[in-house]
Amino acid sequence: MQNPIIVALDVPQVETALQLAAQLAPVVGAFKIGGELFTSAGPDIVRRIRATGAAVFLDLKFHDIPNTVAKSIAAATRLDVQMLTIHTSGGLEMMQAAEQSAQQTALQSGRNAPLVLGVTVLTSMDSNTLSEIGMSANVGHQVERLATLAAKAGLRGLVCSPLEITALRQVLPPAMQLVTPGIRTGAEKADDQKRTLTPKEALDAGANWLVIGRPIYAAENPRAAAEKILASIS
Ligand code: C5P
Repeated sequence: MQNPIIVALDVPQVETALQLAAQLAPVVGAFKIGGELFTSAGPDIVRRIRATGAAVFLDLKFHDIPNTVAKSIAAATRLDVQMLTIHTSGGLEMMQAAEQSAQQTALQSGRNAPLVLGVTVLTSMDSNTLSEIGMSANVGHQVERLATLAAKAGLRGLVCSPLEITALRQVLPPAMQLVTPGIRTGAEKADDQKRTLTPKEALDAGANWLVIGRPIYAAENPRAAAEKILASIS
């Protein structure tokens, strides 16, 4: 089995991120670089984390016209990231352009195409915030609708909340990779995560990858915390 742990490097300083990556690379599957770290450190942080041998998940949630998203994905593919995110609400054509760009650029650069992951409804949104922006569907329906559209566009993966895994598995092709944040072991506090599962529960429900931030990087001993999580799912 691949190591399904993706550590979210939600830290502003390059040095902290690099120290965490060096310490954790042997015991995790990938590192997630989000908007804060990428905006402060630039693309060089991707190269430096890749240099530890670990896979990189670039979580910039692209959402723009198809041509612009395709070019952003081409740039990320040339940077040699293994996973990245786009907003599925950008529509069918945008998602098709994204997947096609990942495949073509990878072919030209002689590497595997990164996994383009679709983000459906942000977990910070509920039915009130959806109706404020003119969407009347309830959250669950909207998640399923966008996930199905992502599959139709040819995306090979989605980000979803732990509590969406079971419903999505019923409507998606079995090969669809599900990446799930909102993971807590029970030993730490839930922080601002309202709906959580343990690593084992999420994998048993059908997740392929687990995005874990604070339970690892904010632990007294991040390496020991990651090893403990790995042992709980091995
Ligand atoms: O620290 P924690 O484990 O809560 O970090 C979870 C990571 O997953 C963060 O980088 C957060 O931005 C991301 N995420 C999330 N919920 C979503 C989508 C992404 O927590 N719905």
